[in-house]
Amino acid sequence: MSHLTDKYRAASRARNQLPDVPGQMMEDVLGQAQLQRRTLLRGSFGATFAAAFGGSALLSACGGGSDDVAAAPAPAPGPAPAPAVSYDVTFKGIPAMVGDQVFIPEGYTMDVLFAAGDPVVAGAAAYTGTLLDSAGYEKVSGGNHDGMHFYPLAGVDPNKGGLLAINHEAPDVQILFPAGFTYNAGTATAEQKKIALSAVGVSVIEVELASGKWAVKANSPYNKRYSGNTVYNVGGPAAGVVGPTVVGTLNNCASGRTPWGTYLTCEETTDNYLDPTQPANGYGWVVEIDPQGSFAATKRTALGRFDHENTDYMVDADNSLAIYMGDDSTPGCVYKFVPSGKYNPADRAANQNLLDAGTLYAAKFNADGTGQWIELTQGKNGLVVGAQDPGNFTQSAVPPAPVTVDFATQADVLLNTKSAARVAGATLMDRPEWVSVGPDRKIYFTFTNNGGRQVTDAANPRVTNSHGHIIRWTEDGDTAKATSFKWEMFLLAGDPRLTAANLKGNINGDTFSSPDGLGVDPKGRLWVQTDASTSATTTNTFGNNAMYYVDQATKESTRFLVGPNGCEITGLTYTPDLTTFFINIQHPTGTWPSNVQGNALPPRSATIVVRRTDGKPVGA
Ligand code: FEO
Ligand code: CA
Ligand code: CA
Repeated sequence: MSHLTDKYRAASRARNQLPDVPGQMMEDVLGQAQLQRRTLLRGSFGATFAAAFGGSALLSACGGGSDDVAAAPAPAPGPAPAPAVSYDVTFKGIPAMVGDQVFIPEGYTMDVLFAAGDPVVAGAAAYTGTLLDSAGYEKVSGGNHDGMHFYPLAGVDPNKGGLLAINHEAPDVQILFPAGFTYNAGTATAEQKKIALSAVGVSVIEVELASGKWAVKANSPYNKRYSGNTVYNVGGPAAGVVGPTVVGTLNNCASGRTPWGTYLTCEETTDNYLDPTQPANGYGWVVEIDPQGSFAATKRTALGRFDHENTDYMVDADNSLAIYMGDDSTPGCVYKFVPSGKYNPADRAANQNLLDAGTLYAAKFNADGTGQWIELTQGKNGLVVGAQDPGNFTQSAVPPAPVTVDFATQADVLLNTKSAARVAGATLMDRPEWVSVGPDRKIYFTFTNNGGRQVTDAANPRVTNSHGHIIRWTEDGDTAKATSFKWEMFLLAGDPRLTAANLKGNINGDTFSSPDGLGVDPKGRLWVQTDASTSATTTNTFGNNAMYYVDQATKESTRFLVGPNGCEITGLTYTPDLTTFFINIQHPTGTWPSNVQGNALPPRSATIVVRRTDGKPVGA
């Protein structure tokens, strides 16, 4: 979640008279951080420029040169072979920074591509400082850009054009309502609700590289909004309870994709806090959207209902599939869904409802480095009528009293998945954020922080875990169908200059707090994005939120990009040749991006484009 989500969900908890869990609010985390105050002078931070790594170890982890087929020399006789493209990471890392701009390494460029209020749908009028009505906002970009994915288009060079599907986690309220207006779901008018709900969901935009710059292709027939006002189909075992359709998606945090080219936008809330008159069961799902518009947008209930962060998938040689997911709750569990059917690469339409039937599992991380996928199927693993839910026992020295929960049907399990995972004995993790499956089939997962943790375990080893950690695992047999795995603690975030032992971490290189966005790119290069507090207490140590390259073998971390004041860095996708990275700047609070766009608009969340001036792959 972002701190805005945290705030929205807190109001919802109060409305529903749900108890606060210690450590649930990000403010709790910050208050317990006990960070040493240090002043960072711009450019004076002792950055370790250990980034000039040789890349052979890196590429060997992802199958070496087999990924470089497109760049292989032409057979003789013929023209002189083109030099092979190198993806070895050689960029010069940048220091921790505080400032109202995007900081990038030497030799790189940054352009603002798509900001909140920019036109999406054909004929839309942009937000240019004058407030629009709900119909107008429904046609422009939502706010708080988060997870996203780039899709090639048939007939278009995928390195020069395609579709971007972009999540909008929350409204950028500063462009929706008059200054000083506070949105209150209990008193909002129907028009105000429509406006707020227009600004969440997904934007699909066609983008193209022309004259050296990426731009949104205005009036493309693919340009489309999916918002909190759109009607979605419902599929899977809980559809009979939820109903055939639901109005709205919201809190579209991070996202994923499927092998058949659809987009999975994740709802990071289990109710509609912007319009609580809508039944809560309609939210907390993974929603499948087809950026090409061939399939109806559908909430896939078989994947469980919780505060979904993102998804990533693994597909086996026999086309068995697993979708990995996390519940960004304090604490929350790690899940995977294995469809009953197999992916059909020869017939896209045959996969249309593949995510409606299958087995949902939750992860148990054992102290000896092994792990189990526990099946969350009604009638198994304690999921019966009269089950005893132990609650979030990690958050207090005295465990809460168990609560009786009835799991009479699979719909009960799917509607109350958090409880089902606890009953079944899954491990309560320190706020699961992003998962990424690398080309070497190693799986990385960020656990952003949990300042309220009191009871530790091997996979969550720190009380008052203010800075978070990253775990890596391998499925037994390297198969999507595995029911067990081997895991290791990849790194503990923090900074060795901090006084308290639980805040130091063990990062080798440039330090960070609160890893959130994460992705292993097609060349096996691991990127980590942060969503730490933006208070001076935190930025004095870590700088503004940033994006890092982390060497999978040495675990050395190198800061690649630093965001403007107040933002988190999130969203990561790229063209197939990796010469263009699309990255999201969420909820900036200063003058960005107006200070680079030359206008006087309020700060706006935006998608940026990062490239190299010499046109080579980013990072190399
Ligand atoms: Fe919306 Fe968990 O980040
Ligand atoms: Ca976060
Ligand atoms: Ca996040």
